[in-house]
Formats: sequence, C-alpha cells, structure tokens
Amino acid sequence: MKKRVGILTSGGDCPGLNATIRGVAKALYARMGDNVEIIGILNGYSGLINGDYKEMCEDDFRGILTLGGTILGTKRTPFKLMRVVEEDKIDKVAAMKKTYKDAKLDCLLCLGGNGTHKTANLLSQEGLNIIGLPKTIDNDIYGTDVTFGFHTAVDIATDVIDRIHTTAGSHSRVMCIEIMGNKAGWLTLYSGIAGGADMIVIPEIPYDIEKLAAACEKRESKGFSILAVAEGAFDKEEAKLKKKERARLRAEQGLTTATPRIAKQIEELTGRETRVCVPGHMLRGGSPSAYDRVLATKFGVHAAELIAADKYGYAVAMINEVVSENPLSEVAGKTKFVPADHQLVKTAKALGVAFGD
Ligand code: F6P
Repeated sequence: MKKRVGILTSGGDCPGLNATIRGVAKALYARMGDNVEIIGILNGYSGLINGDYKEMCEDDFRGILTLGGTILGTKRTPFKLMRVVEEDKIDKVAAMKKTYKDAKLDCLLCLGGNGTHKTANLLSQEGLNIIGLPKTIDNDIYGTDVTFGFHTAVDIATDVIDRIHTTAGSHSRVMCIEIMGNKAGWLTLYSGIAGGADMIVIPEIPYDIEKLAAACEKRESKGFSILAVAEGAFDKEEAKLKKKERARLRAEQGLTTATPRIAKQIEELTGRETRVCVPGHMLRGGSPSAYDRVLATKFGVHAAELIAADKYGYAVAMINEVVSENPLSEVAGKTKFVPADHQLVKTAKALGVAFGD
C-alpha cells in the first residue's frame, strides 16, 4: 500500500537535521520503493498551518548528509500559542489538520526539540499519525540519552574554549565564555570538561559570585582563568525568584544573560581583567560531526521502521544506548536537566573545577 510521509523541521536548527531527513528518506525508499511519497513541509509548523509543502523526490535527499541547517527551513512557532487565535484569525490546530488532510498524508515526522515535541503530541492527540525525532544542541529532551546536534555543538564549543585558552594565557585574563543552553547546562558541562574550563556555571547549579571570584583568585599563580557559563545560568539570589521576575530584573539591569554581570563582578572582586566571549549561533552552524551523522542516520532509519510498522504517537529516542522510542505523551512537556549529582559534575569537581555552589 502506498504511503505519503510528511516531514517537517521546527524550532532552532542544528547540525544533523539533514542527515536525519536523509536517513528517513533513504530507508523508506530502500524499503518501499515507489510505494512511498515524501512531502516536505516548509518552515516547520508554520508551513503546516499555512499549507506550504512540496512533493520531494529521491534526488532531493542526495548530498545532504554533511549539510548543516535544514533543507526544509525551520521556524519557531510557540506551543503556547497553538490554541490561541491571534490577529490573523487562524485556528492553527484546525489549519494544521487541514493541511495534513489536503496533502493526503498518512503520517508526519516532526524533527525538533521540546517545543516541537509538545505540538507533535498535541497533533497526535488530535488523531494525526505523528512521530517525533529528537533534535537540539541542548540535549534536554526527556527520555533520550542524547539528541542529534548536541555532540557537534560540544565539538564546536570545545574548540572555542581551546582557542580562548591561548589568548587568556597571553593576557593573563579571566575569560567568560557563554555557551548556549537556556534551561539545561549539558552543552556547557560537556564542552567545559572537554575544553578544560576552570569554572563551569550551569542553570541547574545556581552560583555564588563570591565563590567564583575565590576560585579565580585561587588560580592567580596560573595567570588566567576560563569560565564556561551557560546562557541560562543564574545566581543563588535569582534562584529564589520565579522565571518571569528574574527576567524582569535582568531587563532592568540591561541584561539578558548573567555572563556580562559575572565578568564585571569578578573584575570588581578580584581586580583581574576579564573579557566575555559569546560564540552564540556558531554553535549551531556547519556540518554535523561524524558522531551526529551516525546518530541522525540511526534515528532516521528507526523512524522509517516505525512508519513501516504503522506505529505512531512516539518519539524516537536513544534509551540505554539502544535506538528505541517513547510515547509522545510521556515525554512532551518535560525537560531533561543535568542532575546536580550527575557523574560528570562529580568528575569535574574531582578535578577541582568550581561550579560556584
Ligand atoms: O534550543 C536551542 C537553542 O540553541 C538554545 O540553546 C538557545 O537558547 C536558543 O536555541 C536560541 O534560539 P534562537 O535561534 O531563536 O535565537
């Protein structure tokens, strides 16, 4: 029986999206030949809402294994607005269901992070045949050991930290490197360890600035200090506040992240010259690493197997190193945080890395 398979990529992009799309497509064509048609939904859920899609052919999936970004385009379409009718008067959920029907889809693959999985679950509950695939440099999708894009970003962030080491040494400075990860600190933790950072600051472990400053002073004889700071880090006082209140106070201080404040306070407390480096979206750019190409391919092939088995309402996942799947309803809306007693945190602490706690 012929199947029409829709694919979309939603939320922030990352290396490995195309490798996953290719993995799904190649496995489907290999398995089903002419009995499969793949429909690319453009720009994530926005394309599904607006009916922007195109029929793809086998050639569209050639040469994309190494390509960064996404051939389908992506967009952030916040889950919290999915059921809200805005000025354009569009009922988004009804519009998405209509596109699914108009495109005669038998199923839809949603490649994305936490927000994407929430909407995927919503669509599944609305009766569509949905499969989620875990993408994000943040590695914070619940129920999977790892997400594709994460290890490439770890490699890039590690390279940034390596390069900062030499300039930090030359100038005897304290260098604060801000690494993406708004809710979870996985990327900062991994790259901080891989890059030999002296201090690692993550949202799961609120910091005390005095302790970070003391750790810098302890390194005085070494000449320089490297801090890997997660974009979403906050201090112990901010930890007492609700997220909205924290954001409001930050805005009053003209800050979006804590990193510039950490640098300034360390300079004041220690008298050491500090600088901030923000690699930002560079962490999401370029070709996926070999690890992510393999992971993306495994995830893509597994999604094709789920389609062949008509098994829908699931999110592909790596569970104890085996590619498998979780019910979407069990993972949507949850975040995988770094446990404060995680083995990697203990490993770093055993080396003398300060977390400021
Ligand atoms: O979720 C991935 C991520 O890269 C986060 O680490 C970061 O906070 C966010 O996306 C940045 O999003 P945007 O691309 O919308 O600026």
